[in-house]
Amino acid sequence: MKKIFLLTLVAFVATAASPGNERDAFIDNLMSKMTLEQKIGQLNLLPMKGDVVTGPDVSADIAQLLKDDQLGAVMNLNDPDKVYTLQKFAVEESGTHIPLLIGFDVVHGYKTIFPVPVGLSCSWDPALAEKTARISAMEATSCGCAWTYAPMVDIAHDARWGRIAEGSGEDQYLGSAFARAYVKGFQGDLSGKGDQMLSCVKHYALYGASDGGLDYTAVDMSRARMFNYYMAPYQAAVEEGVASVMTCFNEVEGVPGAANEFLLQDILRGKWGFDGFVVSDYDGVKELCKHGLGTPEEVTVRSFNAGNDMDMCSLYFVEYIAGAVKEGKIKEQTVNDACRRILEAKYKLGLFEDPYRFCRTQESRQILDSKEFHTAAREIATESMVLLKNDNQILPLKRSTRIALVGPYGKETKNIIGTWYALGSSGRHVSFYEGLLHNGAIVEWAQGSNICFDPALQELWSNRLPIPQDSRSSDEMIKEALEIASRSDVIIAAVGEPAQLSGEGACRVDLTIPDAQKELLRALKSTGKKIVLVVFSGRPLELSWEAENMDAILYAWHPGSEAGNALSDLIYGNVNPSGHLTASFMRSSGQYPYYYNHTPSARQFNGKRAKFSSSYMDCDPTPLYPFGYGLSYTTFEFSEPKVKVLADAIEVKFDVKNTGSIGGKTVAQMYVRDLSASQARPVCELKGFEKAYIEPGKKKTFTFSLTRDDLSFYNNNLDFIFEPGEFKIMCGPDCEHTKSVTVNFGEKQ
Ligand code: BGC
Repeated sequence: MKKIFLLTLVAFVATAASPGNERDAFIDNLMSKMTLEQKIGQLNLLPMKGDVVTGPDVSADIAQLLKDDQLGAVMNLNDPDKVYTLQKFAVEESGTHIPLLIGFDVVHGYKTIFPVPVGLSCSWDPALAEKTARISAMEATSCGCAWTYAPMVDIAHDARWGRIAEGSGEDQYLGSAFARAYVKGFQGDLSGKGDQMLSCVKHYALYGASDGGLDYTAVDMSRARMFNYYMAPYQAAVEEGVASVMTCFNEVEGVPGAANEFLLQDILRGKWGFDGFVVSDYDGVKELCKHGLGTPEEVTVRSFNAGNDMDMCSLYFVEYIAGAVKEGKIKEQTVNDACRRILEAKYKLGLFEDPYRFCRTQESRQILDSKEFHTAAREIATESMVLLKNDNQILPLKRSTRIALVGPYGKETKNIIGTWYALGSSGRHVSFYEGLLHNGAIVEWAQGSNICFDPALQELWSNRLPIPQDSRSSDEMIKEALEIASRSDVIIAAVGEPAQLSGEGACRVDLTIPDAQKELLRALKSTGKKIVLVVFSGRPLELSWEAENMDAILYAWHPGSEAGNALSDLIYGNVNPSGHLTASFMRSSGQYPYYYNHTPSARQFNGKRAKFSSSYMDCDPTPLYPFGYGLSYTTFEFSEPKVKVLADAIEVKFDVKNTGSIGGKTVAQMYVRDLSASQARPVCELKGFEKAYIEPGKKKTFTFSLTRDDLSFYNNNLDFIFEPGEFKIMCGPDCEHTKSVTVNFGEKQ
């Protein structure tokens, strides 16, 4: 009987006309047979108990909920056989026989892990982000997962906030390009091919602007600021056809994302025309009570009427919506609309045709952690690392150089994958040491130090990816490190943060290298040997002391599965470094929040600390390494930009010459400043970029176009306006070292 029901659905799918009509007719038919309660059941999402935990425990009887038609989606289930069993139960035992949507945080890889997103953004190559998303989708879908909670596109101006690791940095122009690329990679054309998955852009909105760089705090800012600095990447994802949007935990103008009508109705659905479904973040509906917005019933009504279609984890929708409909607090039509959106998503995935299409145990065994995916992970990791310093061209090293590899990340294989590692904890990962050996290195390793002196902190910081505490004293470990250093030509110090010291709920006030490792660095410095510092981290760290005392600094981020091979490729020059920063590195954590595209101060710092200037009495207010910055083993020379004013755009051209002796990739960047406007405008704003390889001695011409839209901004009425006048156009390898030209654009001649 149940099978017949399903077959009827399948037959229906096969016979209708065009895809859109076919889908609508199918869903009309399906919904006509559903009760109000069954429709509400589709709006409920719960986590499965298992290895992966992404929030507080939820105790629920999944089987019973399915039998009662009270569950539309589950998350964190990653075994294709288990997904099969659960899906079979849903299809055969529930009253509606509707397959489940299976979701998971596939953020920067599933089994094969790529660099954390902030690192990946430093590649300045959105095509690479698309490739990582494509591979992740292939791996995840073969294991039953058809919906990822990615990309995270929250712009962050504050490295104290641990979740800066998950986004694409501090600039919304670059962030938008990456947002589009991720959505494209995960979803493709969403035409029901079994290796495409739904993407979910998050955390809408402004989560990255949380007060004090502290997770889950409030956000309040002018609306013009929201739109000029934060909103574009969410909008870009919507324009790219993202299937779902996750609301933020934080308040915006006093109302948390899960209940924010302005964000969900006025902007997302109203202005941007989003037609997918909205899901709250983990317990986001329940937590509205903790924000003081009312009783469980009241917050349910508020959240649902504000535009939240699906409840992640709190079970409030199944508990309270039906009653609220009966009392007239929620319209039945709103339930119908939300249910339809979720059924549409399931339809697009092809789940009604074949509920088991994502359970491909055989295929998953072949592709997870495959050689091909690891080759991609290696290449992509090399593109994301940023060379910050390279005095006297100490890098690349010769194969004959004797290396003392020192530090807790020298042989680490767990924490190099970074936060939100999906199934990475059981993956195959290459340590730095192993990578050096693969490259024929002459190398000795010593641990040198623990992560930090306090064992309790070390345990907290390496949560679920443990780094065993070395029981030796700090002096003993340093002694061993100095011994191997004495036999070496160069020291490579592999230091930084464990994976879980960035990411959700991992904020810090002190962004220096943790104490025990810092002590190790000081001891190494006292040897007088050359030191190459390799930093593992999910956020920009404070490197003022290191910038003065180390000979080279290579910022590895958390590079993923192929960390060791990728690092060694750069260390030996198999690959020339080409990463450039997408978040400013500050001299002191006291400078945050900071963003390169701030408006001018009338009392701008002029290089000398003084009273009555926009400076700190104890620190220069500028970044240590600015947005866009990154070195190469070769050198590039940028020409003056040339502009041509066309009817509706400015064409900008400039040459970049590779003036060194080896080939390399440059990141050509174009910034703009509106010189006179009705409101203060940023000192510079990224408006074009391209990464390209240039042969030694050769030059390449870059051509960018600036339209009126590129030069427009949101005023205080939220009109997106273009004001004719003078614009300064700046081109260079980062936001500070640019050559410029000023042009008049838009005035009637
Ligand atoms: C995070 C989200 C994540 C969700 C599900 C939440 O705690 O904020 O980014 O997608 O958990 O795991």
